[in-house]
Amino acid sequence: MKVRLYSVRGLDRRDPAYQRAIREAAGVLAAGGLVAFPTETVYGLGALIHVPGAVERIFAAKDRPADNPLIVHVSDGREARRLCRRWPEAAQAAVDAFWPGPLTLILPRSPAVPDIVSPGLTTVAVRAPAHRVARDLIAAAGPLAAPSANPSGRPSPTRAEHVLAELGDRVDVVIDDGPTAIGLESTVLDLTGERPLLLRPGGVALDSLREVLGEVDILPPGPVHAAGAVPDPRAARSPGTRYRHYAPATPLIVVRTGGGRDLAAATAGVRSEVARQRRDGRRVAVLGADEVGQALQGEADAVVTLGPYTDAVQAAQGLFDGLRRVDAVGADVVVAHTYPDLGVGLAVNDRLLRAASQVRDAAPGAARQAPRRVLFVCTGNTCRSPMAAALLRALAGEAGLDIEVRSAGIAAIAGGPPTPEAVAALAARGIVLEGHRSRRLQEEDAAWAELILTMTRHQRDQVRGLYPEAAGRTVTLAEYVGEPGVDVEDPIGGDEARYRATLAQLERLLRRIVARWRDERGT
Ligand code: TXA
Ligand code: MG
Repeated sequence: MKVRLYSVRGLDRRDPAYQRAIREAAGVLAAGGLVAFPTETVYGLGALIHVPGAVERIFAAKDRPADNPLIVHVSDGREARRLCRRWPEAAQAAVDAFWPGPLTLILPRSPAVPDIVSPGLTTVAVRAPAHRVARDLIAAAGPLAAPSANPSGRPSPTRAEHVLAELGDRVDVVIDDGPTAIGLESTVLDLTGERPLLLRPGGVALDSLREVLGEVDILPPGPVHAAGAVPDPRAARSPGTRYRHYAPATPLIVVRTGGGRDLAAATAGVRSEVARQRRDGRRVAVLGADEVGQALQGEADAVVTLGPYTDAVQAAQGLFDGLRRVDAVGADVVVAHTYPDLGVGLAVNDRLLRAASQVRDAAPGAARQAPRRVLFVCTGNTCRSPMAAALLRALAGEAGLDIEVRSAGIAAIAGGPPTPEAVAALAARGIVLEGHRSRRLQEEDAAWAELILTMTRHQRDQVRGLYPEAAGRTVTLAEYVGEPGVDVEDPIGGDEARYRATLAQLERLLRRIVARWRDERGT
């Protein structure tokens, strides 16, 4: 099949060449053909729902599983309503707030919709796109069933070139209006149940939906990689989530961080994965934030960046193109990381995790490799945390690790001396603590540290509450070595034997940590 390409880039809508492109494409659609066209999210592959045989061709062109339903693209709420058997208040509220735009609504299907659009379901997906070409095409031709214009399983296309390269021999017309603005697909919201249910995060943020609709349920992470997760029966309402998606040709390992803002964990997680892969002799590409790319320059074989870590909008715009670009750098494996779950970041992470061939959880405070700056936190900063700090300095020195160490107390009175028992216990170990003066934990300490180790789980939670930015870098000392239920209890008021026991516990934990860091660094 010979594809016809119309470029309307830079053309005004009144330009005869623009209008001719829309007219010709509408004619092809009316004759049962397939047209790839831009929307504000990704390029779609459209067919008219009322032309017999046309929608079937979409499934064939994409090799799409026959039970994965399509979105019907309409001009507005009025047109959508005609395709639905019920039109709840929430639908009207969502349409008023977000249409035209990147929001797809799942509603009970009316007999006006042919079964092929959502095979075996009683529902239909409707969306009014905001892009001028999509709108003009729908106005000229009618409601369009349109999935993303990629072969099933591949990343969605954000440029006409992606469509031409991967589906060029299977479509009749491609309209090129440049890169899409949002870069990933619409949010899919199911309004058939008691409460709105988010089936796919996308261009409209969950928070925005909640502002307009009140409570919105979300599905737990998709079945694809949710090790040990109990399948949610509601997942059956989202057929698309059954399949692996968006995958680059190169195996993709995604380092998953906690969902908060945690650049340190992302960087550390990617770094150790890169080191592991290279150790096994593989060429490794990194896909991720500018900061991560910069940190890994020289450690990875290639780096593809998607903008600043905190700019999820830019990451969304570049993600699918980035997933294709990493295939072109000749790596054996790609390592990427998740972003903060805020705004469109939730959708970025969803796509990354679905694209992944493996997911690795970055341990909270993920520095598997020796961090350069460690902060110990206890309550008063007169015994446990200064003991731990002094001990780590000694052990790191013996192991040849160059680490800066501080300690502070959540409720410390500044300038107090260590307890005599702490001084004595350390002296018996050949370490001098006299000079220590207690310090109260400051925001600056939390920002400074690459790893924050607390004595107890309670202190960990306090630190995370005080400094959410540092939450991902904050763990208990015992957690860090894989003993999550253990606290280092306060020896204050105890006798020397009690202090010696505390010191022994600290030393046992710290020796394991130092050994691990030495091993990581040595290879
Ligand atoms: O941004 C977008 O939504 C793009 C552009 C082209 O509009 N379209 C798109 O279509 O992403 P597609 O087919 O790649 O993804 C549609 C998603 C799939 O996950 C599908 O399972 C789900 O919507 N879906 C469609 N109809 C549904 C229905 N009746 N019930 C539940 N999920 C449905
Ligand atoms: Mg798709």
